[in-house]
Amino acid sequence: MSNPNLLSGNNISCVKEEFPIFNKEIDGKKITYLDSAASAQKPKCVIESIKQTYENNYANVHRGIYKLSQIATEKYEEARSKVAKFINADSIEEIIFTRGATEGINLIASCLANKIIKADDEIMISTLEHHSNIIPWQIAAKKIGAKIIEVKPDQDGNIFIEDVKKLISNKTKVIALPHVTNSIGSILAIEEICKEAKKFGIITVIDGCQATPHISVNVKKIDADFYVFSGHKLYGPSGIGVLYGRKEMLNNLDPYQTGGEMIDYVSIQESTYTNLPNKFEAGTPNIVGAIGLGKAIDFVSEIGMDTIKDHSKNITNYLLEEFKKTDFIEIIGNPKDRLSIVSFLVKGSHPHDVALLLDNRGIAIRAGHHCAQPAMRHFKVETTLRASVGIYNNYDEIDFFISNLKQITKYF
Ligand code: ALA
Repeated sequence: MSNPNLLSGNNISCVKEEFPIFNKEIDGKKITYLDSAASAQKPKCVIESIKQTYENNYANVHRGIYKLSQIATEKYEEARSKVAKFINADSIEEIIFTRGATEGINLIASCLANKIIKADDEIMISTLEHHSNIIPWQIAAKKIGAKIIEVKPDQDGNIFIEDVKKLISNKTKVIALPHVTNSIGSILAIEEICKEAKKFGIITVIDGCQATPHISVNVKKIDADFYVFSGHKLYGPSGIGVLYGRKEMLNNLDPYQTGGEMIDYVSIQESTYTNLPNKFEAGTPNIVGAIGLGKAIDFVSEIGMDTIKDHSKNITNYLLEEFKKTDFIEIIGNPKDRLSIVSFLVKGSHPHDVALLLDNRGIAIRAGHHCAQPAMRHFKVETTLRASVGIYNNYDEIDFFISNLKQITKYF
């Protein structure tokens, strides 16, 4: 980092300088980036790490006896240790590198369906899931004749533990929920939910994609059986994600994919598999992506997750307050506890039109269903605009965003 002193304490105003993209212009305009929930921009150290690895440390991992392969393996495994420490996992065996959170959930749903979930069992998910935490469970349920149970939020988008409790039955086998919802940013009380699930021996799977970039995640404290997140939302490279699984759970499951790296002994008729975590990492992994994710973890850890959380909360609250002062914004969802994401409509206009007009002014926000169609239906909309913040956003950008929205409303 160029100026680490400015990144300590509560002052993260200089963080933006660490992101080269904000020195660029598109069509002569600086970028105001309010789409970090879709993917975060990358700091210099992550970009440099990718270049450094390819220039100096690149070879396949766990395969070569030669020095370069050993160096690459050390760096790759060092990244795994960083992830384990970052989320307070018990050991590196509990950290599986995946292509992203989507692959993590598909892995778990598929492996549980192959071995643990039985016909007539129930899998509980919520209305507010990202499609990635819906479809893998639908496929698993269809395959074995299990049933999906939907926990519905209230009108404001809150999912309370009582709502989950009411739906637990002696058939509930899995509860799969988001830590923070990607459509409206509501925070779920997952620690309490996992505690409740444990009482009944229910397996818990938490989608942590929108939580890990903003709050300190402690998987031991949460006590979920599985917790997934993506690297690209945490300022790391795309194409790398993490599946945390409790060791005894992962040990009990059969591999998801098969091939190189995950084997112990292979003959033409039969094979045995290696130990965790490699058992779940068939094929050459995203070596450079994992090392880059390790660097991103160094970056956010240096700033401090508490500082990041305060920043995310402050900027989001400011955005909400400024929205409420206007008469042309309809905020979608009003959860009690929210982080980093605000979905909204500009009255009398289509979200895509607004997003295009904002883009003409250098402002990037997402418009659409946010891979959460059931959530959209819950709020009786087809699509929304969604502004989401990252560590580089500041109050001036929110002012700029809102003043541009005001100007745009004149077109409608
Ligand atoms: N899951 C990402 C989002 O919510 C892509 O936008």
